[in-house]
Amino acid sequence: MTVGSDVVIIGGGIIGLATAVELSLQGAQVTVLSQQFRAAAAHAAAGMLAPQAEGILPGAMLDLCLRSRALYPEWVRKLEGLTGLDTGYWPCGILAPLYVDCLPTPQKMEGLWLDRAAIAHHQPGLSTELAGGWWFPEDGQVDNRALMQTLWIAAQTLGVTLQEGVAVHNIEYQGHRITQLQTSAGVQQGDTYVLSAGAWSGQLLPLPVVPRKGQMLALQVPTELEAPLSQVLFGTEIYIVPRQNGRIILGATSEDVGFAPHNTPAGIQQLLSGATRLYPALKDFAIAEFWWGYRPATPDECPILGASPYQNLVLATGHYRNGILLAPVTARLIAALIGQSNEDPLLASFSCDRFAVPAANTLR
Ligand code: GLY
Repeated sequence: MTVGSDVVIIGGGIIGLATAVELSLQGAQVTVLSQQFRAAAAHAAAGMLAPQAEGILPGAMLDLCLRSRALYPEWVRKLEGLTGLDTGYWPCGILAPLYVDCLPTPQKMEGLWLDRAAIAHHQPGLSTELAGGWWFPEDGQVDNRALMQTLWIAAQTLGVTLQEGVAVHNIEYQGHRITQLQTSAGVQQGDTYVLSAGAWSGQLLPLPVVPRKGQMLALQVPTELEAPLSQVLFGTEIYIVPRQNGRIILGATSEDVGFAPHNTPAGIQQLLSGATRLYPALKDFAIAEFWWGYRPATPDECPILGASPYQNLVLATGHYRNGILLAPVTARLIAALIGQSNEDPLLASFSCDRFAVPAANTLR
């Protein structure tokens, strides 16, 4: 059976779903092909919105990240309005503590330096080995799993065709145009295609996107304690993300091991020792869950956005550590490119042309 849509999105992660919602709001008929909704990197993430704490250097990437962070309040309001769901968006600020033995860091952009006494006042209970830390009041977090659920329901509400459990086996083309997709559920056709398959993108086209595994862990705040943390802690060896529901997310390893699955003793040990060093009280909290996921990494750690060697294929992949943060701006820029042929100048910095991607007629 052959099925057709205006736009077929390959990948049902945060980028694919956010783009589907935006295109659908513009009136497009959209299909999303998702191999496994739960495998998306966005499920594995901690949901930090952290362009400053991540130390992204000034330039196009920081511009993109800051633009997306600024879009967040309005974006989540729109999604929550469509669905009646709560995304857990929380502009709580991020504190980036530094140990005394760390090399001094250059002043981070618009961060406020808190010395030893000030940081202890700002967040009681931190390690006594700290020299101080940077405070980024505009960074924050969203509950990434709640956001993914909200996006899925928003897409459904808007009439997006969501095909879960469908693997794309082959992208077929003629000349410089994609003609159809061979999938586990038959042939799919569209006027335009979007590749947003995250860490799996390099399996479908010769793009330099590879998996970078991250292991994660969640703790539960004991019921007798009232919200001991009220901002994200972004340490040098760990980040600690307190949710408003009493969970605390610890992340993450960064491992170049392909799609190797499972949590490992070394990974869990790294998370626990980093977390209990930075905030010692955590050592008595209950372990609630641990999991892993695959960030889509590119050689320069920036996403690949916009035109591809094919006239009717748009790329939106390779968001590496910043997929949650970059979802609103990616969706907006990609939907404007497809729906209104409006190519935002910022997209030029994220073109696949910066890598040696083969021309269309030599791709397969
Ligand atoms: N955004 C944090 C991470 O990828 O671990």
